[in-house]
This record gives sequence, C-alpha cells and structure tokens, in this order.
Amino acid sequence: MTRIAHLHAREVLDSRGQPTIEVELRCANGSGGRAIVPSGASTGKFEAHELRDGDPERYDGRGVRRAIAHIHETIAPRLLGRDPAQQEAIDAELLALDPTPQKTQLGGNALLGVSLAAAHAAAAAQGCELYEHLSQLWQASAGEARQPAPPTLPLPMTNMISGGLHAGGNLDFQDVLIQPVGAPDYPTALEWIVRVYRRLGKLLGDAGYEGRLVGDEGGFGPRLQSNRQAIEFVVQAIEHAGLVPGSQVNLALDVAATHFFADGRYRLASTGGAVLSAAQLIDQLAELVDAFPIASIEDPLAEDDWEGWQAITRRLSDRVRLVGDDLFTTNATRLQRGIELQAANAVLIKVNQIGTLTETFATMRLANRAGYQCVVSARSGETEDSTIADLAVATGAARIKIGSIVRSERLAKYNRLLRIAERVATPAWR
Ligand code: PGA
Ligand code: ZN
Repeated sequence: MTRIAHLHAREVLDSRGQPTIEVELRCANGSGGRAIVPSGASTGKFEAHELRDGDPERYDGRGVRRAIAHIHETIAPRLLGRDPAQQEAIDAELLALDPTPQKTQLGGNALLGVSLAAAHAAAAAQGCELYEHLSQLWQASAGEARQPAPPTLPLPMTNMISGGLHAGGNLDFQDVLIQPVGAPDYPTALEWIVRVYRRLGKLLGDAGYEGRLVGDEGGFGPRLQSNRQAIEFVVQAIEHAGLVPGSQVNLALDVAATHFFADGRYRLASTGGAVLSAAQLIDQLAELVDAFPIASIEDPLAEDDWEGWQAITRRLSDRVRLVGDDLFTTNATRLQRGIELQAANAVLIKVNQIGTLTETFATMRLANRAGYQCVVSARSGETEDSTIADLAVATGAARIKIGSIVRSERLAKYNRLLRIAERVATPAWR
C-alpha cells in the first residue's frame, strides 16, 4: 500500500484544440498516475457539468482553470495521505465535496480527472496493468450480485461516416459504424476495419464525393443526399473489402436524435427537410433495419422522449441493440427508469457523463443485472488518454466505441487494445 503524496492538475488540449484537464497524482513510494478528461459535442442535458471558465480572453471562454483551482484548493487537501487503491473511498470523498446532482460546484471534469488518475496511480503502485487493477475493483464492486464478467476484449464499433454535430451538418444521423462481429480475434478485427475504411474512401472519391475529409471522430464527412445513401456506401465498402455484410461485418447507427428534436418533432434538416413524429421516425428506422444488416441503433429518439423509446423497444429490441446515450448519460437513476419502462436494451458508458469511476461501475453493474449490454464509449473530443480501453476490458463490456481508425486520439485506444490482446482472450462476438 502507498499514499497519495501530491496531486497536480494542468490545462492541456484535446483533439479539437480545446482545453481540458490533466491530473497527475504522485504517491509516497515514487509511483504515480495520470489521466486526461475527454469532452463531448453532442452532449446530453443530464450529463455531469463540464466546468469552463467563461473568460472570453482565453480560449473563447473554454479554459478550465477554475476547475483546476478546485482540484488544487478543495480536492487535494482532502485526498493527500489516502491509499490510491481505495477507489470507492476516494470517489465518495469527491462526491461529498460536490454533492450536487450534476457536479456543478467543482465540475464533473475536475472530479473525473482525479478519479481516473487515482486508478492509474494505484495500478502503477501495484506494478500491474490498469485493466488488471480495474478488474479487481470491478469484481470487488459486485457485492451480492451475480459475479461480474471476467476481462475480455470488447467488440469495436467503428465510425465510417460522420454527420450531425460532428461533421458540419452534412447528414442528420451522427454516425454510420461497422462492427466486425465475425473476426476471430481483435487484431484481425482491426485489420478488417481499416480495410473497409480504405475501400469506403475510394468508393466515395470515385462517386465524386469527398473521400478524405473527416469529421471530429475521423469518419468520412461527405455531403450525401440521405442517411440511407450513407448506409449503402458502407455496405458496398464491406463488400469491396471482400467481407460479408451481416455475418462478418454488420452495421450500427448513432442517430443522436436529440440534436434534431424540437417542439415534439424530429426535424431532418440536412437530408430533405422532413419533419417527423416519433412514430414516423421509428417507421423509417425499422425500414432501414429491414433493408440492411443493422445490429445496433444508438439514440434513435431524443433524451426526453420516453414514450418513443418504449415504442421502438417494443418494435425492434428482439433484432437490434437499442443503445441509450443522451437518454441515460451513464446515470444509474436514469438507467433504472429505463429498465422499469422497458426503454432501450443497451447503455452507452461515458465516464465523463457521470464523473467518477465508482458511479460508472454502479451503472454498468445495474445494466448487467437487467440484461442491458454495455458499450464503453469515447467522446468526440478526446486525447492520448486510453483509460477507456482498459475500462472496457476490465468490466467485460460487450462493445467499445472509439470513433474511426484515423486520428491518434482514437488510435491511442485501438493500439492499447492491441497490447492488451496479447494477454486477454477475444471472446466469440455476437
Ligand atoms: P459526443 O458524441 O462525444 O459529441 O457526445 C459521441 C456520441 O454521441 O456517442
Ligand atoms: Zn451518441
């Protein structure tokens, strides 16, 4: 056991060139750990608060010096001398310092940086890999519940075409993704993904669309006519890669419907201007599921449209994973409501939506008990920090969603999984 001797936070930049928080934690035995906080663009309104300075003189108000001051002045004095491996106690202390529901006092970004850095430091102090330490925490957090899953490699779901708030409003749906479900192991899965991505770039270019410009997460951002056309291109790319759409590589969508929902209607501004009721949007999505090998749809409806969510779950849950992102915001209370209402059958897990590792585990545990699949996810604003790769492995999460396979903030995670894959088995993905 060791003790936290020093806690330091600094402003660094994320993949959009926006400031974010890096926390560095040093222990009495000389070991230490470091974590950087990610940041979303299509954020849900129930997410933990991202505290920004609001000072227009610096980074257009997006500096994070206030949150950093909270770490140095309020959080550090309470954590010095503690064992960094006592994650629950550390997180409980953080929550006691900011008991507001959305961490508005100190900032969810301040809390998360400290929470994750503690895990890194604890792993280093024990001389083990981060996923091994997280796995210990995860197993220990099971309590009376059914034994949690052992470490496994998650199925990557990888962004091919980007739209929505991530790519300049070219498409209404935010992502068309692929899942290499038929790959025998993770390294092969990654090679398939890269192959499909390359073929897609060529297909788009040959058809006269921009086949090189990419969105925030590295997916192509062509100005296509419809969401359907984007899906068609991706299916074609899978075929051109010599792979079988459906059995080897299937599709996933992130509709991110909250961002085009207003006054009770879904307004598809970029692709034809249709104004749809929830029922009509569900009909359109069901048609796409009939026509294409789509295995997963994230945020098909808006974050407050519980009725719409219930309707699509009744209609499609036996064929498709319906993933709540903005709907649940990694929040156990909201997930509990979804379980009771039978809304969705999977949950996106983004650590900065909730703010501490312990709360993340609680949401994932609840999901496992209810049979909701967990999809550990990056944000559109990311960094070289690869903690979520270890988190997904440690918790046996079914899937991981990192963005595309270009841009180093994405590859930090894909490459981390390659290293882990030398030691952890790839399960049979479905
Ligand atoms: P965000 O996008 O990080 O901008 O919220 C990711 C997603 O919607 O899944
Ligand atoms: Zn999403």
